[in-house]
Amino acid sequence: MRRLYPTMQNPLRLSPRLQTAALAVRSGSVAADVGTDHGYLACALVQMGRCGKVYASDINHGPLEQAVKTIRQYGLENRVFPVLSDGVKALPLDEISDVVIAGMGGDLIVSILQDARLYCPEKRLVLQPMTKPEVLRRGLCQAGFELLSETAVADGRFVYSVLTAAYTGRARQAGDLFSYTGLLLGQTGTEAVSYLRRVAGRLGKQRDGLLQTRRPDPVEIAKLETLINQIKGEIPDGKGYGTAALDG
Ligand SMILES: C[S@@+](CC[C@H](N)C(=O)[O-])C[C@H]1O[C@@H](n2cnc3c(N)ncnc32)[C@H](O)[C@@H]1O
Repeated sequence: MRRLYPTMQNPLRLSPRLQTAALAVRSGSVAADVGTDHGYLACALVQMGRCGKVYASDINHGPLEQAVKTIRQYGLENRVFPVLSDGVKALPLDEISDVVIAGMGGDLIVSILQDARLYCPEKRLVLQPMTKPEVLRRGLCQAGFELLSETAVADGRFVYSVLTAAYTGRARQAGDLFSYTGLLLGQTGTEAVSYLRRVAGRLGKQRDGLLQTRRPDPVEIAKLETLINQIKGEIPDGKGYGTAALDG
């Protein structure tokens, strides 16, 4: 479903995934949209009235040019500022309170978050991994960030999580259950349940793959079984685990 901002004359339409990320940005913040690509999220943040100023950054020239076109198209040249930057390196982080990193792999997001200027409790991270969300949750905990919220959002054939986090300096090792399910475990909304089912389905496939190897590692398989059962136990009507419905 595409959503429209009804108050705007020339409103940008965001996908449910980007809309969820936009709504996680704090009102009144100066934001950065890292890996902006088309620039939609950066421009929508201003259009929505959430941010007065947004930096739209990308590591590649092509996407940044695309963002510049979007900024011009919506007449936001005085509000949205394109920056060529690897991660947050070239961004004026002292001025930026909310950093959005959406549409990248969890491992890439973790590497971008290694900039010490982000180790500041006042800053808010809004993160939306396309893959390896477990690597992101683990990396956040290890680096001393605390997960503040997670929202599952269905978009097309996929269900994503949008995470918010802030630095506390309290580093910890995340367990497997937390790494795979984060703050979505125990949520009962349709999209969260769908997310958890898919995680269980993926882990089931991983276990089945291990079982088919010549010398299956019983410890690894038992670990996966435990994890799958823990997740299943938290899904309303989790008995469906292992069926086709959970394999997405
Ligand atoms: C798949 S697009 C996501 C676009 C948008 N954020 C979204 O969620 O729809 C990923 C973008 O991240 C950019 N990118 C990849 N690595 C990056 C890095 N280290 N720093 C900044 N941007 C990066 C790519 O050039 C690309 O434009």
